[in-house]
Amino acid sequence: MSLPIVMSPTPTDVYEDPLDVMDEIDRLKIEKDATILAHFYVDGDLQDIADFTGDSLKLARDATKVTTGTIVFCGVHFMGESAKILSPQKKVLMPDLLAGCSLAESCPADKLAAYQQELRAQGRDFQTVAYINTSAAVKALCDWIVTSGNAREIIDRVPADKEILFVPDQHLGRYLSAVTGRPMILWPGSCMVHEVFSIQDMLRAKKNYPGSKIMAHPECPANILEHADIIGGTEKMRKHVAAVAEPTTFLVATEANMIHPLQKAAPQHTFIPVAGIMSSSGETCACNRCPHMARNTLQKVRDCLRDGKPEIVWQPYFAQAEAVLRRSLLEG
Ligand code: 13P
Ligand code: SF4
Repeated sequence: MSLPIVMSPTPTDVYEDPLDVMDEIDRLKIEKDATILAHFYVDGDLQDIADFTGDSLKLARDATKVTTGTIVFCGVHFMGESAKILSPQKKVLMPDLLAGCSLAESCPADKLAAYQQELRAQGRDFQTVAYINTSAAVKALCDWIVTSGNAREIIDRVPADKEILFVPDQHLGRYLSAVTGRPMILWPGSCMVHEVFSIQDMLRAKKNYPGSKIMAHPECPANILEHADIIGGTEKMRKHVAAVAEPTTFLVATEANMIHPLQKAAPQHTFIPVAGIMSSSGETCACNRCPHMARNTLQKVRDCLRDGKPEIVWQPYFAQAEAVLRRSLLEG
């Protein structure tokens, strides 16, 4: 007779009450002298336990104001890296170092360096403007860093006699080129979340909710942006809905977790996430999540606080990236 096989549960199989984990996090935050920063695309529970929430620009700036010795960054890798670069004296932890970004991955530093070399060999006189969704190694090769929150002002700082090489988001670059009137050489990157919104579903929803307003992130392709009433990054969206008193239905074309801070900021409105086309089935679903942001969980926040790792460790090329980031994000 064969004996039954008893599987011992792996740590992720063990159910833990989220409220208990939150209590543990509160206790560990004090014990470990830590501050939690969370992007608007992470799970609502994580946003609720964070000391600072915001878009990429606000969080990068908030990281420089933290008074504790440790920062826990709930977001994706380039965000934790930017926090470390701007606050080198702090210990910067991330719940999961594998939380990447399809935009950052589309533009490896060696490929960018080779392309810049090629353009220079052709006699092109340009400056490189990088979206913050890039690795520190890429930032070190660039002249300026923009976020969705400061892009127009930064583009205005690029000398008028220079061409602009914009990396890596072609959609954001195309949009910025149109609003600033500056021609741009565009890197062919895109965000896996913002690229898959269903234009048909969005227009159907617009018809079904008369008077509704479409709000879209500039990482969306032009066919979505051309129908949008409000185009802006996540902090701009939050501020916009908070400033509208009249109850309104907003159709939101960005990562689905953004509904959480919008609802908190302006409960008088109705927020409907625009559906994305799921690559697995081809069906549409109003659950368009960033799989990288989804790597952040309450348990992983608790574990990284408890264990003091994983950590973003200072790299030699961070020094060059620091100069570009400071000039672009902290100095006007
Ligand atoms: P925001 O800076 O508008 O929050 O967008 C950043 C982003 O794309 C995170 O994925
Ligand atoms: Fe990157 Fe898109 Fe995820 Fe933002 S939503 S982290 S741009 S993959």
